[in-house]
Amino acid sequence: MSKMITFDEEQRVFHLHNDKISYLFQIEKGDLLSHLYYGQRIQAYHGQRQYPYADRGFSGNLPGSLDRTYSPDSLLQEYTPNGIGDYRIPAVIVRQENGSRATRFKYSDYRIEAGKPALKGLPSTYVEDGDEVETLVVTLTDDVAHLELELRYSIFMGRAVIARSTRIINHADTPVYLEKAASLQLDFAPRDFEVISLPGAHARERQMERTPLSRGVHSYESRRGTTSHQMSNFIALVDPTTTENMGDAYGISLIYSGNHAMQVERDQIQQTRVVAGINDYNFTWKLNPEDDFQTPEALVAYSPNGLNGMSNTLQHIARERIARGKWRDLERPILVNNWEATFMNFNEERLTPIVDDAKKLGIEMFVLDDGWFGHRDDDNGSLGDWFVDQKKFPHGIKHFVDYVHAQGLKFGLWFEPEMISFDSKLYEDHPDYLMQVPGRQPSPSRNQYILDITRPEVRDNIVAQVEKILRENDVDYVKWDMNRHLADVYSLGLAPDQEGEVYHRFVLGLYDMLERITTDLPDILFEGCSGGGGRIDYGMLAYMPQSWTSDCTDAYEREKIQYATSLFYPNSGFTAHVSVIPNQQTGRSVSFATRGAVAMSATFGYELDLTKLTAEEQEQVKQQVAEYKAIRPLVQFGDFYRLRSPYTTNGCGWMFVSPDKREVVVDTFHTQSSGQPCAHVTKLVGLDPQKQYEDLATHTVYGGDELMRMGLYDPLVHEDYTAKAYHFKARD
Ligand code: DGJ
Repeated sequence: MSKMITFDEEQRVFHLHNDKISYLFQIEKGDLLSHLYYGQRIQAYHGQRQYPYADRGFSGNLPGSLDRTYSPDSLLQEYTPNGIGDYRIPAVIVRQENGSRATRFKYSDYRIEAGKPALKGLPSTYVEDGDEVETLVVTLTDDVAHLELELRYSIFMGRAVIARSTRIINHADTPVYLEKAASLQLDFAPRDFEVISLPGAHARERQMERTPLSRGVHSYESRRGTTSHQMSNFIALVDPTTTENMGDAYGISLIYSGNHAMQVERDQIQQTRVVAGINDYNFTWKLNPEDDFQTPEALVAYSPNGLNGMSNTLQHIARERIARGKWRDLERPILVNNWEATFMNFNEERLTPIVDDAKKLGIEMFVLDDGWFGHRDDDNGSLGDWFVDQKKFPHGIKHFVDYVHAQGLKFGLWFEPEMISFDSKLYEDHPDYLMQVPGRQPSPSRNQYILDITRPEVRDNIVAQVEKILRENDVDYVKWDMNRHLADVYSLGLAPDQEGEVYHRFVLGLYDMLERITTDLPDILFEGCSGGGGRIDYGMLAYMPQSWTSDCTDAYEREKIQYATSLFYPNSGFTAHVSVIPNQQTGRSVSFATRGAVAMSATFGYELDLTKLTAEEQEQVKQQVAEYKAIRPLVQFGDFYRLRSPYTTNGCGWMFVSPDKREVVVDTFHTQSSGQPCAHVTKLVGLDPQKQYEDLATHTVYGGDELMRMGLYDPLVHEDYTAKAYHFKARD
């Protein structure tokens, strides 16, 4: 007996609900699925919010019907096919044998399942405890094209989020070609929305943008073959009055790492449609008779408590039901990475003192970045040659790894497995592994090229090479990088009428490699990376519980990037390192303390040459390491709240609260000082108003109500880019 999904036979209404949310849709005239509502929980639907029948000019009607007041063009729908008189963006387009792209899917059947099935070849949310999830599968059919559509809706106990995906099955006796297959469509009755998106660039990822939704179609998308720095696959729809802590917020994201399109349309009568999924740019997928196509999963969270409420739901489900493996719930080691310290100019001798200092300062892992393999002294060659450069490690890399381990540190290693250099043994042996269009010169980017990982033999070669190094050298951690975007997208392994599948098959190939390596080597901690944070998405999170956030390590820039990343990504999932000043990317100088406070708000580490620090700085590192160890469970597994936006104010603020509300860490940042400063009050959120909280630095005790309602003055400072951190504990 289903607890969270009901079907009212009389009203023909599906109702998915838990203690927080309700999602309702109805089988309407013509067997179309009409969306009714998604939002705060309602007990029961009594038919009061019906489709507003009206005869609207140029909005046509159902075939064979004389009712001019019912139009697919104005109906809120669940998943709109193409070419049947709904002129808004469709969710699915299928080119058929006769050249037609029109489909008319009608409701056929439904079933309710306990739990949720895994998606073929794709990461998705999963069930850990038997009845925490229920799934509604609604089947629609097009009897002319002989196509079947399965819409899947999963609802989780206690979580304000719905997971959706779609499967399309070809029952015709000839192939058809999918030209678009969205994961989710979500229509809204007329209201004024604002859209929050996360555009960016390399070293300036995820900049929060909030704009009123105007008429027309707005697409937040990537055509780069990967999630990209340029546009994340997350958007939020909010009311104009929504703040961090109040008002409606819908957060939508995909469990996917390839080309995406998050499309939002405000139609002629102020209704809103969201269609999210694989970008249809250069996408076609051949479906042979009885083949099926599974879309990636989309999540849509709802909160009546503003953006913090929405982020809380998304951060929790991402951390608890997308991220997997041993490291999901383990505290992540504090690391030092040699990239900004040495770039590729190192050898064992040069690195050893850094390891010694790391040990001395309490750091827990040494990560050897790019440059240890082939003959890679610069970024022009050797990608694909995953064997150790004997010049840099004359005794083999194991000798160095053993040394790191003997100091009590873990050892991490950098890879870029999806790439190939012309100057490599791999290219010499297998020039055909490179992704290229026959007869054309492929376009370089960072002087490197893409491997055609749509082909199993290419994946096998790389998986074997990577696993060999990992196994033979007792590697504890892998940084999996990707430093260019796709071009020359073509596979020698596919027929001409399947070349439109390459973008998606590339992602499936990547997931296959990751699935194999993470299953074969379950103890290794994986960190995702793509030239910084170019592939921060829920798909990668399923394999890599943490990702490098940005190649920009400047603390002020990081405030903005981390603030926006936290909208949908858990803080344990993104990494932040203290680096030197002047900062190598911006030239800005920010104090050691502020650099530490920003970096300690995520999964923490250092990205500098420890041996070059002054004695005083080394002391500061020691202190930061000790401090981070004390707050690590809270930062990595607590509830996170944004307090003050660096995008709209002269500062920034955020905080972490333990699940039992007994421990609290707050960070406030001040951007630019002034000759006549205005004081700023920070009000905390998420505390227990009845509890007394002690500031561990001053031993002053404050009431939870006081901290939330009256707040604290931030210190008045005479310096740019300062930070103030508080650590409170509840008193018994
Ligand atoms: C890009 C990454 O973001 C950096 O941290 C570093 O690993 C370089 N690639 C190495 O090429």
